[in-house]
Amino acid sequence: MQIIKTIDSLRQALKPLAKQGKSIGLVPTMGALHAGHGALIKASVNDCDVTVVSVFLNPIQFGKNEDLDKYPKRLEADAKLAESIGADFVFAPSVEEMYPDGDPLTMVRDEALESLYCGAYRPGHFRGVLTVVSKLFLISGADHAYFGEKDYQQVFLIERMVKDLCFDIQIHRVKIVREESGLALSSRNEYLTDEEKARSLGISLGLKQAKEAYDAGERGVMKIRDTVVKSILANRGQVQFVEVVSQKTLQKFNAGMLGPDDKAVILVAAFFGKTRLIDNIELN
Ligand code: PAF
Repeated sequence: MQIIKTIDSLRQALKPLAKQGKSIGLVPTMGALHAGHGALIKASVNDCDVTVVSVFLNPIQFGKNEDLDKYPKRLEADAKLAESIGADFVFAPSVEEMYPDGDPLTMVRDEALESLYCGAYRPGHFRGVLTVVSKLFLISGADHAYFGEKDYQQVFLIERMVKDLCFDIQIHRVKIVREESGLALSSRNEYLTDEEKARSLGISLGLKQAKEAYDAGERGVMKIRDTVVKSILANRGQVQFVEVVSQKTLQKFNAGMLGPDDKAVILVAAFFGKTRLIDNIELN
């Protein structure tokens, strides 16, 4: 496996492979890889002839008071993990390589959804994500790209961007990987103390209870939502948002009852201590 640091070298490495008809899979990451990323890499290795894992801590998707500086960085360990699963290339460019003129002036935005849910609390986050993901698609020329469903709004926006802008790439959603306890894997879990980690199970427990209630016939939007809120509060978490939204449009179901054709997903963001965690569950 090769670690590549420049855009030109990645293009030089991948173009001949594409010419030979080899399919290229891209797994965009910000590093600090865990088993959730492992599942994305595995899916790409299974589907594609060549797998590229990008490791780039993208500054333009972080707000001023967010965790850019303390985000865990360990390229060597990331490369080892990627290699052990069968990746062919790790693309790890510097910030200067990706943004040679500073923050880009041309950016990709989804004006309808960029300021809802996570975007309401992280202004500029999604345009930073869509911009870097577009660049990674264009740099790699990948045929397939893999994203985890933990970042539900992110993968929804990426799918919409690919459709709206005619990117010639197939997006694959990969299911959330959870610890045995139910906690969704995230690089940010490393920030949690043991005590916060135990309490943070309030999120996955609440989602599980809400899904069980839905499966048992509960269709009241507020009741479903409140089950999750209560579980987080009972574990002394601070709720940022819990919303029941449409899987198809990501628009909120405000109140009332879910109908037989309403495919919903519960989106959650909550703080345990200083750590912000997100999670979700589909109600199917
Ligand atoms: O999900 C992430 O790790 C990032 O948002 C992504 C997609 C790699 C873009 O920087």
